[in-house]
This record gives sequence, C-alpha cells and structure tokens, in this order.
Amino acid sequence: MSLKTFTLNNGQTIPSLGFGTWELDKEEICVPAVAQALETGYRVIDTAARYMNEAFVGKALAESGLKREHYHLTTKVWVTDFGYEQTLRAFDKSLKKLGLEYVDLYLLHWPVEGFRRSWKALEKLQDEGLTKAIGVCNFEIDHLEALAASSNSKPVLNQVETHPLFQQRTLFEYMTEQEILLEAWSPLGRGDATLLTNPVLLEIAKAHGKDVGQIILRWHLQRGSLAIPRSSKPSRVESNFQIYDFALTDQQMASITALDTNQRSAGDPKDPEWIAKLMSMPIPD
Ligand SMILES: NC(=O)c1ccc[n+]([C@@H]2O[C@H](COP(=O)([O-])OP(=O)(O)OC[C@H]3O[C@@H](n4cnc5c(N)ncnc54)[C@H](OP(=O)(O)O)[C@@H]3O)[C@@H](O)[C@H]2O)c1
Repeated sequence: MSLKTFTLNNGQTIPSLGFGTWELDKEEICVPAVAQALETGYRVIDTAARYMNEAFVGKALAESGLKREHYHLTTKVWVTDFGYEQTLRAFDKSLKKLGLEYVDLYLLHWPVEGFRRSWKALEKLQDEGLTKAIGVCNFEIDHLEALAASSNSKPVLNQVETHPLFQQRTLFEYMTEQEILLEAWSPLGRGDATLLTNPVLLEIAKAHGKDVGQIILRWHLQRGSLAIPRSSKPSRVESNFQIYDFALTDQQMASITALDTNQRSAGDPKDPEWIAKLMSMPIPD
C-alpha cells in the first residue's frame, strides 16, 4: 500500500503515519514489534536515546532487508546531553547503537535550558549529512519563537502530545502558519479507556466498520498531522495501519474536534517540576 506523505519545510517528504517505540525497551519485545511494523508497511520509526532501545530498533531495521533509503528513522537527544559538544557526543552514541550511517531526523527531546546550543549541534550534524533533517519535541510557541530568534534554520517538525482529548489547537495553528509539521505523540492517548470507549468515537467507528484506534489515527491524518502510534500487540500494529481505505466526513471531523478537553495527560513542558524531574534522569552508559 502506498502511504500518503507530508512535505516538510525543507522540501523532503515523510510518510504520514509512523511507529512509536517508547517503552519497547526489551529486545524480545522491541525487535519483533519493529519488524512487524516494517512488514506491515510503516516506514517511519520513532526512537530516542532515552528509550534505551536504539540497538534493538537498529537490529530490526538491519534484519528487515529494507534498503536504507526506504525507511525513515527518527531519534532524539536527551535533556541531560544538551550543550553543543555533549549533543555531538550523544548523537555519535545513538548512531553507533542504531548501526546506521545517518538518521533521517534528529530531535531535541524537551525544551530545557541550553536548547539553543544543542540546536547549533543539530545544524552541524545536518550540514555534515549525518541527519537529513532536524526538529524539536514538546516546544510551545514561545520556545519556537526563541529558537527562531537565535537561528536561521527552522525545525521541520515539532513532536508533541496530541489526541482528540488534547488537540493543541493554538500551537497547531501557529505551527501550520510557520510550516512546521505537527507529529503527534501519544496519538491514541496511551490507550486511555475514556478515549477509546468514547461514545462519539464508537459511533463513528461503527459507521465505517472500523475500530476507535483507526478512527483516531484517521482523524490525525485528515487534520494534517503525523501520528506515531505504538503497540506491542501484532493485531494492533496491523490494525492501526489500516487507515487509508476510508475517510471521515467533515461532520465526523467536527464531532471529534468537539471532544477537546485541552487537558494533557503527560508532562507539561512549562512545569518546572516536570523539567527538574527529566533533568534528574541521565541516560546510563
Ligand atoms: N517526544 C516525546 O516527548 C514523546 C513522548 C511520548 C511518546 N513519544 C513517542 O510517541 C509514541 C506514541 O506515544 P505513546 O507510546 O505514548 O502512546 P500511544 O501510541 O498513544 O498509545 C500506546 C498505548 O496504546 C495501546 N494501543 C495501541 N494501539 C491500540 C489500539 N488500536 N487500541 C487500543 N489500545 C491501543 C498500546 O498497548 P499495547 O502495546 O498493549 O497494544 C499502548 O499501551 C511513543 O511510542 C514514542 O515513540 C514521544
């Protein structure tokens, strides 16, 4: 099946659905899950130094037999490795663990102190062809503005928590104006029951003969954002990919938009306690 793609602000394209690997940190779970995702047709794989599974992701990629140019690998620099030299060293470690010669996208994981210096390192890595594109995660509008004020380059995307109960509408509008793609993390709300058993979503699912996960992922796609759902269950890895054979009506899209509660379920990038917690979690060697 050919995947619809999004065009990034640097002219590159990226498939419109990806596979997340957070918490797939055991080899016997991660390798088969990524292998199955690749077999199913996912061509964007999202990892991070923090997930401590880059070696397993790299193993699954190597064993897939796919040509390097036929998939898109994202990894991220962790907050305790921010700073110019530290970020370059962290990237080198990630690349070795992945067993790759380059990555497709390298992201700043959270907007903590020092992100501008790390961004300079990302620019250098991009200039050297070691990453094809660079971007950020969990940036609010003022972080994006601060980055723009101190740099001539723009993130191609910003990976942020987004799902029907937390739609990031103001940020999304700003990023659309700035031509920065929204990549949705926790696109299924981490499997939260209040989302997956929501009556509005259940009714839409019934009308299309689909499950709620597929309806949510189709909503992300039609909205113009790249979702990276994660699953360790083969049947869900497969079903979450089956979103290209139907379309939500304008009315159904509007009904889902009306579900927004504007309540995030995970860490707030503006919360100093949350940031302090992240900074207290260096990655062991
Ligand atoms: N940049 C960041 O700061 C950041 C933060 C968080 C996540 N991420 C990235 O975003 C990816 C996705 O986010 P996420 O892993 O937090 O959450 P998610 O993809 O929204 O949800 C994953 C959870 O939902 C369950 N699930 C998957 N498909 C389902 C379906 N069709 N029906 C019901 N339950 C389903 C999974 O359980 P089973 O395994 O049992 O199927 C898992 O517990 C991550 O894996 C990671 O790559 C990035």
